[in-house]
Parts: sequence; C-alpha cells; structure tokens
Amino acid sequence: MRVSCQMAAETLLLVGDKLRVGMTTEEINTLVHEDTVRRGATPSPLNYHGFPKSVCTSINEVVCHGIPGPQKLHHGDIINVDVTTYYGGFHGDTSATFFIGSPSPEARHVTDVARRALELGVSVVREGARIGDIGAIIEEYVHTQGCGVVRDYVGHGIGRKFHTDPQVPHYKMPRTAPNPRMKAGMIFTIEPMVNLGTWEVELDARDKWTVRTKDRKLSAQFEHTVLVTRTGCEVLTRRPRMLANSEESDVMLAEAP
Ligand code: MF3
Ligand code: CO
Ligand code: CO
Repeated sequence: MRVSCQMAAETLLLVGDKLRVGMTTEEINTLVHEDTVRRGATPSPLNYHGFPKSVCTSINEVVCHGIPGPQKLHHGDIINVDVTTYYGGFHGDTSATFFIGSPSPEARHVTDVARRALELGVSVVREGARIGDIGAIIEEYVHTQGCGVVRDYVGHGIGRKFHTDPQVPHYKMPRTAPNPRMKAGMIFTIEPMVNLGTWEVELDARDKWTVRTKDRKLSAQFEHTVLVTRTGCEVLTRRPRMLANSEESDVMLAEAP
C-alpha cells in the first residue's frame, strides 16, 4: 500500500507540474497513463465498471468522475485530477484540485475549503476513534464556510480492491447509521467534495459517469489514502513536495489533536 500510494502521489505531482491553459483533459489522461505504466503499474480507473479512461478529470461544476476528452483548460478553471495506481496487488488513491491561471475569489474559496476539510478529516483519525468523527468535523467546518458537502459519494476502504468497506461519509451521520471504530492497520480514503452552493448533485444522463452540482456552481475535492495507527495515522499518499498550481502548504494535520 505504501508503494502504490507513493506512486499515485508522484503521478499527481507530475500532473501539477504540467498543467497549462489550452491543454486538453485527454492530454492529462495520456500523461497519467504513461507515467503509471512507466512505473510498472496499472491505472485503476481504466475499465473499472466500464470507466473508459485512466484518470478522472473534473472541471469547475463537475464534482467527480469527469471523463478525459477534447475539452481544453481555460484561464480561471479549477480542475480536480484523481489518480489511482494499482501496483503489487494494491490500489493507492489520491486527488487534488488545481488552479489554471489565477482563480476567482470563489474558485479559491471552494478549493481552500476542500483542502482544509481533508486536513481536518485526517486530524481525527486514530485507533479507537469512530468513522463518523471524520464527517462530523468536516461538515461542521464546511458549513461555517458557507459551502455544501456532497452526500452521494463517500470515502472508502481500499487495498487489494479499489472500493471496500467501510464507507467514509464526509457529513454527519444519523445516530442510527453504522459507525465503526477505527482499528490500527485499517486503510481508507478521505475525499470530501465541497460545493460553493447546494450539496445536491446530478449524474450526466448520457455518459452515466460525470457528476455535476445541481446548481452548476463550483465544486472542489482533495483525497488521501490513510493508514490508521495507534496514535494517529500515516497519510500514505502524502507528497514529498508541494503541488504546483494548487497553492497548498501541504502541512497536513497528521497527528491526532
Ligand atoms: N478515484 C475515485 C475515488 O476516489 C473513483 C473513480 S472510479 C472511476 O474513489 F471509475 F471513475 F475511475
Ligand atoms: Co477514492
Ligand atoms: Co480517487
């Protein structure tokens, strides 16, 4: 898991370095595909439940699962690139939202809130904490920032399979929902999707993959794969340097408070 997660992190760093105005999402797909294969790994998205490409590219109002194609990047766009690498029998899953040129204040806000939401989620992970603690702290924060948290898609266990139990909601769960305790050795993703407006989303009727905000306002997302430890967690997809075009400090609150 450490190796596949670090490969995914490295590929995401490469994407950040290469993004520019006028590039197509197909070119991002080629970049990710070739970098993954060069490592002797496989891009997990390709043919996953029929997904046609090697990476998800989600621009502006696209929440997640955007399919790479001829669409060009424009100045002011935000784009989430979600890389999942399969190596040695294990999947590593990580994503970030990037700015194309200088972002509008709204684009910067929703992206900053999504990045911080992930950091806060990570900060409560430790053996004995509950999965529901993650969504509780994320939702509380995102609402104070005037944004919405997507409810239709959640974080997930990951390992030999791309998506496993437990589900990791980014919102406060009802008290009746299953809310397992974290155990040292568990590995799952945290991947909050934060919307500038309503939390409600819509699935593209034609391609059955692309998810958009119902109100077509901006959405941003960051994702890490994390390993639960006795005292906190290890961010398996932590990057060895800062991402270009995402302005993150990458100071993760990896230790439990
Ligand atoms: N990487 C996404 C996640 O974080 C899943 C993408 S599934 C795909 O869970 F088929 F769209 F690639
Ligand atoms: Co994921
Ligand atoms: Co992902």
